[in-house]
Amino acid sequence: MTDVGRHPRITLHTLSEIKDVNGYVGNFDVSILKRARYVDENECTACGDCAEACPVIRPDEFNLGLSSRRAIFSPFPQAVPSAYVLNANECLGHNPVVCGKCLEACDKGCIDFHMSDKEIVEHVGSIVVATGFDVYDPTELDEYAYSRFENVLTSLEFERLINAGGPTGGEVLRPTDRQPARSIGFVQCVGSRSAKKGGNYCSNICCMNTVKSTLMLKEHYPDMDIKVFYIDIRAFGKGFEELYTRSRRSGVHYIRGLPGTVEEDPDKGLSVAVENTATGNLEIHHLDMLVLALGLKPAASTQRLQEMLGLQLNPDGFFLEAHPKLQPVDAATRGIYYAGCAEGPKDIKESVTQASAAAARAIRLMHKGEITTEAITSMVIEEACKCCGKCAEVCPYNAVTVDVKKKIPASVNTAACAGCGTCAAECPFDAIIMNHFTDGQILNQVHTALEESTQEKILVFACNWCSYAGADYAGVSRLQYPPNVRLIRTMCSGRVDEKFIWDGFRAGAPVILVSGCHIGDCHYIDANHWTEKRVKKVHKKMAKMGIRPERLQLEWISAAEGVRFAEVMDGMEKLRQSVTPEEIAETVQLLKE
Ligand code: FES
Repeated sequence: MTDVGRHPRITLHTLSEIKDVNGYVGNFDVSILKRARYVDENECTACGDCAEACPVIRPDEFNLGLSSRRAIFSPFPQAVPSAYVLNANECLGHNPVVCGKCLEACDKGCIDFHMSDKEIVEHVGSIVVATGFDVYDPTELDEYAYSRFENVLTSLEFERLINAGGPTGGEVLRPTDRQPARSIGFVQCVGSRSAKKGGNYCSNICCMNTVKSTLMLKEHYPDMDIKVFYIDIRAFGKGFEELYTRSRRSGVHYIRGLPGTVEEDPDKGLSVAVENTATGNLEIHHLDMLVLALGLKPAASTQRLQEMLGLQLNPDGFFLEAHPKLQPVDAATRGIYYAGCAEGPKDIKESVTQASAAAARAIRLMHKGEITTEAITSMVIEEACKCCGKCAEVCPYNAVTVDVKKKIPASVNTAACAGCGTCAAECPFDAIIMNHFTDGQILNQVHTALEESTQEKILVFACNWCSYAGADYAGVSRLQYPPNVRLIRTMCSGRVDEKFIWDGFRAGAPVILVSGCHIGDCHYIDANHWTEKRVKKVHKKMAKMGIRPERLQLEWISAAEGVRFAEVMDGMEKLRQSVTPEEIAETVQLLKE
C-alpha cells in the first residue's frame, strides 16, 4: 500500500465515497465525495503530538474496541497516507472552537478546522471493484453467548489480541480479568454453511485462519490447551493440509461437533457443551476463552454499488462475474472488473491473484487507446422509431437513449450495448435490429426447425450462456434427451420476441420452450426479468384465444444443470405427446385469421 501511495500515476482517494458513476467502457465519470480530514495530509508527519494533547477518548475501531484512541488519530499503524485524521463528530474544538489543544500541539500547523468535504469527478476508462467484505455478526447466535460473556471473542478480535501491535502487545489475556488464558476453544463455521444463520456458503478462509492461530499459540504457549470445534476442516489450498496436520500433531484437539450451549463459570471461565459426533458423546469443555471463527458476508456497500454500476449479484450477495470459467474477473458490464472478496470469500493469495488478473485485464483494455466492441449490438431504424421509449426502459446497460417528449428517435451507444437483444424484442414497432440475431435470421431458424414432421418437434429457445451451455453439458455428459428437440440459440432469453413464439405456433409447433439463466444469473444483468414478463403476457393472450397456455413453457436452466436440461426436455416431450393434431390445427387456424 505504501508503494501505491508513492506511485506518481496512482491517485489515492482516502476518506472518500462513490456517489455516482455514469458512462460506459473507456468513458466512466465517477463522482466522489471526499470527506474532510481536517489535517493536511501532505504536511502531517504522524508524530502523534496532536493525539497526545487530545482529551477525547473513544474506542479504537481498528482494535475492535479492545483499546482506545483519541478524536484525532491514525486509523491504523501502516495507514496510507501516513497522516492523522480528525473525527469532527467527536472533537470538542470544532465549531465553535472550545478545546483546540491539538492545534496548539501541532508545530507544523497541519490542523485546519475549516476544511470541508469536496466533490470530485474522475474520468476513468475502467473500474476495478475491490470493496472487500464484512464479517457475520454473531450476536444473534444465542448458543455461543457472544453478547453475554466477555471471554467469548470473535476471530477478528482474537487476531488483534495476539498481534504484537495489538492492545495487549500480543499477550493472550482474558478480557474479564486480564489474566493469561490457559485454555482456548475455537468454534468454526459461525455464520457460514447455514441458511438460517448467516450464509449457506463456505467462507473459505476460517478453517485455515484457525489452524494458523493454533500453530501460533502452540509456538508461544506449548502447554496451552487448545480445542477446535468443527463440522469438517477444509484445508484445500497449497500446503494447507500440511499445516492442518502440523496443528494436530502439535497437540491441538479437533472435536467434530459445534457447541450447543456456552455458560460462564464462577471463575469467569466458560463451560462449553458439545455433542462430539465422532464418538456420539455429549462433552463439557472448560475453557478460559472461546473464539468464534466468523464467516464472511458481502460488504455493506455492495448493494448500492451494484445499482450504480449496473452489476449482478449472486444468490449469496457477492458480485457475479461475467462467466465463472472464461471471464472470472470481468463484470457483465464491460470495463468493470472484480478483485478480492467483493466477488466471493477468498484468502490473501487468491485475492492477490485475482487483483493482478483484474489489473491486467484493465490494462489490456486501455493500452490501445481505443476499444473494439463486439459486433453483436443493436441498431435503430430511425424512420420506424415512434419514440415510445420502451427500448430505453428495458436496456439493462442504459445504452439506449431516446427523448420521448421532444420526439427524438432512439439511438444506441454501441460501446455500452452488450447485445442482449431485449430492446429489439420489446420494440412494438420493429424499429430495432439486433445485429447477428435479427428477426429474419431467427424466424428462418424457426421455420426450418418446423419444416418436416412439425407435430413431433419441440421448439426450444435457449440463451447462449446458461441454457444452451446446459444443453452442451447434457451432451458431453452423454445424457439422453428426446432427439426431436430443436434448439434456437439467442444471446439472452430477453431476445425472444413475442412474434417468434406466435410464428412457431402458427407454423404448427405443438410446444415451445423459452429457457434462460436463473433469475439473478442473467449475463445481461436483469434482462431475463423481461423474458418472464413477456412469457406471462403471451400466456394470458393464449388463454384468451383458447390456446392451452401450458404449450408455452418457461424454464431457467444453468450451464451446470445438464441433468436438469435433459429432465426438462423429457417433460417437454410428455407435454408434446399430450397435444393432439386437432389442437395444433385449431391453433394454426386461429393464428392465421
Ligand atoms: Fe441467459 Fe439472459 S443471458 S437469460
